[in-house]
Amino acid sequence: MSAEATSLPAAPAVMGRAHLRAAIGSFVGLVPLGIWTTVHLWNNLAAFGGARQWERSVTFHQNPLTDYAGFWALAIFIVWHAFWGIRRTKRGQPNGYPYLGNARWWLQRITAIGLLLFLGAHIWLAKLHPRLVTQQAESFNDLAAHMAHHAPTLIVYLLGIAAIAYHLGNGLWNFAFGFGIVTSQRGMKCATWVTGLVVVALLAVGWLAVFALWHAGQPLPAPAD
Ligand code: HEM
Repeated sequence: MSAEATSLPAAPAVMGRAHLRAAIGSFVGLVPLGIWTTVHLWNNLAAFGGARQWERSVTFHQNPLTDYAGFWALAIFIVWHAFWGIRRTKRGQPNGYPYLGNARWWLQRITAIGLLLFLGAHIWLAKLHPRLVTQQAESFNDLAAHMAHHAPTLIVYLLGIAAIAYHLGNGLWNFAFGFGIVTSQRGMKCATWVTGLVVVALLAVGWLAVFALWHAGQPLPAPAD
């Protein structure tokens, strides 16, 4: 007879597997994806130094093979984390009380949907389309001209960065709680401050990079598309 049919608690082995899946899902979001995204946003600050510096930091890859392998590794991590998040959302429920924790539960999921849409558009337009269609990496001037003269591009980048800043910052809090790094009330309060600072720092880095591109695009002609 199964545990479900008798309403008995799940067997320890099942609980162990679920716990391991949750730990891996959370870890993949925070460590490879979170670190890569933070470095990626930081690299984009090179836009303050102009086209050559930005292209060297963001789109130039010494070895096409490591670029290719890195891209696929990232894609696998993104898909893994997204499937884990969707499963978790289907199972979990907010408790319906107007507590801050519920607002955070909802925001984590809303930003996840926004991020998936952002990432789909961003990876296609900034990475795949230029390389597959024009056989070249995205150029500084093209991105800067879009930031300066194409309002949807600017808005999508600003919102995409806001979504990743919140999702990653709050994800860090969930990770610290889920892995038992913070357990006391005082620890949770402290973690809220620390993760709040992470959100502000990511927002500042990402929005500053967008500002640098927008500024560089001002004297450029409006893009044709
Ligand atoms: C300041 C804002 C951003 C700018 C200007 C920017 C720019 C770019 C560019 C030009 C590429 C193509 C790189 C290449 O040709 O190798 C790229 C790739 C990528 N970006 Fe961004 N990005 C920004 C923000 C973000 C954010 C917030 C995320 C995550 C949520 C993100 C995730 C990715 C991913 C996953 C790729 C493909 C991975 C790869 O390059 O192999 N980007 N980005």
